[in-house]
Amino acid sequence: MKVFIENLPKAELHLHIEGTFEPELMFNIAQRNSIELKYKSVEELKAAYQFDCLQDFLDIYYQGASVLLTEQDFYDLTWSYLEKCAAQNVRHTEIMFDPQTHIHRGVLFETIINGISKACNDAKEKLNVSSLLIMSYLRHLTEEDAFKTLQQSLPYKHLITAVGLDSSEKGNPPSKFAKVFEASAKEGYIPLAHAGEEGPAEYVWEALDILKIKRIDHGNNSLQDEDLVKEIVKRDIALTVCPLSNTALCVVDNLKNHPLKTMMNKGLKVTVNSDDPAYFGGQVNKNYIEIQKALNLTKEDMYELAKNSFQYSLLDEDEKQFYLRELEQYYKNDNSTI
Ligand code: ADE
Ligand code: ZN
Repeated sequence: MKVFIENLPKAELHLHIEGTFEPELMFNIAQRNSIELKYKSVEELKAAYQFDCLQDFLDIYYQGASVLLTEQDFYDLTWSYLEKCAAQNVRHTEIMFDPQTHIHRGVLFETIINGISKACNDAKEKLNVSSLLIMSYLRHLTEEDAFKTLQQSLPYKHLITAVGLDSSEKGNPPSKFAKVFEASAKEGYIPLAHAGEEGPAEYVWEALDILKIKRIDHGNNSLQDEDLVKEIVKRDIALTVCPLSNTALCVVDNLKNHPLKTMMNKGLKVTVNSDDPAYFGGQVNKNYIEIQKALNLTKEDMYELAKNSFQYSLLDEDEKQFYLRELEQYYKNDNSTI
């Protein structure tokens, strides 16, 4: 099963580039930018990765991101993640980035987007991994601030596919961003949002009905409302589920109690993702492997999860079919060798 999962062609749809920042690279970049980190060593930093809730994690995550200054920094961060994709048979990835985290420190939008997108272009050519970018608004900031970010993104619109909504969920409902999401959609960005990670089912309703999102990041708390589950199924909207993130942030107490299979049984379309792999103890393949073990999932289940990852990606129909055929071929060959 482990080898089957490792070789399974898949897409990753929920990934924050700032959350891929491995401590070793963080210390290297801090040193070359002459920035002193609060932690003395990689070990000391890793020891701080113990979280009781989303906010605990976010406090450390923003500190880590604060050493990123130059285009080369954003390139190196992204390239390092894309190499890991290639090694895990992640054939396509949809990368979230948080421009406000960097703009607030004086980094230009241009610096961020150029570094990230150059790494993505190189990865397509050299690693055969495709990618799309999701610009995420930070929900603990004001809608006005998100509007400024939208404005700054417009010269680079051709490089960005979607907008997302992340950071501290509780107390920051999707409705706070109604206008900026409407304006973003008018500019051609596909609306997506984190909802129902720590926030209530009501926030998922708002994300659907007010922000008109096409995919739900996490969505765990949707299960608290049967009508909502039915509505998500009816609208054929996928949930990007992140098992190791959920246990690291105490959204789920134990992987054995993770609702992923329950979601599948209810007809919800779910995918498996790593969220912030440098902080939560595993890349996407580890998420597949650990959830398979914890819930005793079958190869057919794993095939369905990988199929969903392409089907509910933001790729155009031809590209989806290309990857789905590759996946089907892989699954058929595996069956014939049993
Ligand atoms: N930013 C990075 N990871 C996040 C998560 N899991 N939830 C909300 N915002 C985030
Ligand atoms: Zn996330």
